[in-house]
Amino acid sequence: MTRTLNSELLNKVGEKVVVAGWLHRLRDMSKFGFAILRDRTGLIQVVLNPEHLAQLKDLQLETVLRVTGTVAKKQSKDPNANEVEIQAETLEVLSPVKDVLPVEINKTDIEAQLDTVLDNRVVTLRNLKQRAIFRVQAALVHGYRAYMEKQNFTEIFFPVLAGAASEGGAEFFKVDYYGREATLTQSAQLYKQITMGVYEAVYGISYSFRAEKFATSRHITEFNQLEFEIGFVEGMEDIMIYCEGATRSMLAEVEAKCVSELALLEVKLPPLGEKFPRIKLKDALEIYKQGTGIDETAEPDLSPAAEKWLSTVWAPKEHNCGFVFVTHYPEKKRPFYTKVDPEDPTSTLSFDLVGFGSEIVSGGMRINRYDEQIERIKTKGLSPADFEDYLMMHKFGIPPEGGFGMGLQRLTQNVLGLDNIKEATIFPRDVQRLRP
Ligand code: 4AD
Ligand code: MG
Repeated sequence: MTRTLNSELLNKVGEKVVVAGWLHRLRDMSKFGFAILRDRTGLIQVVLNPEHLAQLKDLQLETVLRVTGTVAKKQSKDPNANEVEIQAETLEVLSPVKDVLPVEINKTDIEAQLDTVLDNRVVTLRNLKQRAIFRVQAALVHGYRAYMEKQNFTEIFFPVLAGAASEGGAEFFKVDYYGREATLTQSAQLYKQITMGVYEAVYGISYSFRAEKFATSRHITEFNQLEFEIGFVEGMEDIMIYCEGATRSMLAEVEAKCVSELALLEVKLPPLGEKFPRIKLKDALEIYKQGTGIDETAEPDLSPAAEKWLSTVWAPKEHNCGFVFVTHYPEKKRPFYTKVDPEDPTSTLSFDLVGFGSEIVSGGMRINRYDEQIERIKTKGLSPADFEDYLMMHKFGIPPEGGFGMGLQRLTQNVLGLDNIKEATIFPRDVQRLRP
């Protein structure tokens, strides 16, 4: 007899089934008992007889079981409740658990500090709420891929081991590569640009590594980016359109596929308005000053507080939208591949998408001409000789192009309103943590 999933039991009243899963909870009333069995689709109550209870005697929660039994309508005080349970006939222990769980995982919320939750990730991930987070994350990725495939763009798989750092700064990891020094890619930036000479429009899910010096609630050392790059574009708007389209598709996928997860997590998705507002950085800083009295207009960037206010107060109020594109960051703040604004050499054709609390995307136009890129590399104090392979694409022709990278864990964190990005990372790595 094949296994029936817990979610499929509702319309099987009176039928004999086999279910299997983990012992989530157990109530022993001596003459009979109730086991709550968890599988990948949810929970089901199983009514046990004394022999079954004897089989479970010395075993702990999370023991893996297979049960044969009959589906019955569950007795309930609420006459409209449509719930079923299983009257067990046989019970088989597939994997006995002898140890008591280090953390209780069968309540709605795990009552422990984040570090304890993560130290015990192997089991805490089984908590229904914890599990729901990564179901939502998966739906976000599916929404992204579906959108990009609909446009007929090409999915690329980028390398993780590389010779040079792409985003500048000192935040990269060195790896011993047969006695040579390699780095772990900070982003797929340089590779996705190279593909512009071929596919014109690409996307992909990359791994990014950053040797961040400090632990913050928004930074981890290993994360994923939803990458995008497109050629033959005239300006940033041509890129932001795809960024907005992808974001909408991702949230629509979550809304459609994660109804129970959102309910469990008590999350209402951010409003999307008709169009994500687009504002220049200097106007954003001015709006922030007008709205809060905090003057950061002399700053070259948005502070975390300004990002939060713009995307959770200003944009929802003015545009009924939890997202805002901020454009034209100063050239000093953007990497060497970013196109300088022809109308203002202190500024760049770059943007961030700030979403529901903080930056989730960086993007912009890139330099596509060889001489211009050489000059820019030198101005940034770097050596063109270190970028020989990269510059080959400029030398042999790439179209005017641009793209963006979206932080998957950052987006998940913001969409679900989680305090720490590590909650939105299935096996997070930070300055301290390299396990499990
Ligand atoms: O802003 P970043 O550094 O931009 C790039 O890597 C560019 N290559 C993107 C491009 O196409 N121009 O990183 C992109 C996104 C950020 O907006 C953020 O969401 C996420 O990646 N991110 C991090 N997420 C978690 N931990 C970190 N340490 C992150 N650093 C960036
Ligand atoms: Mg950025």
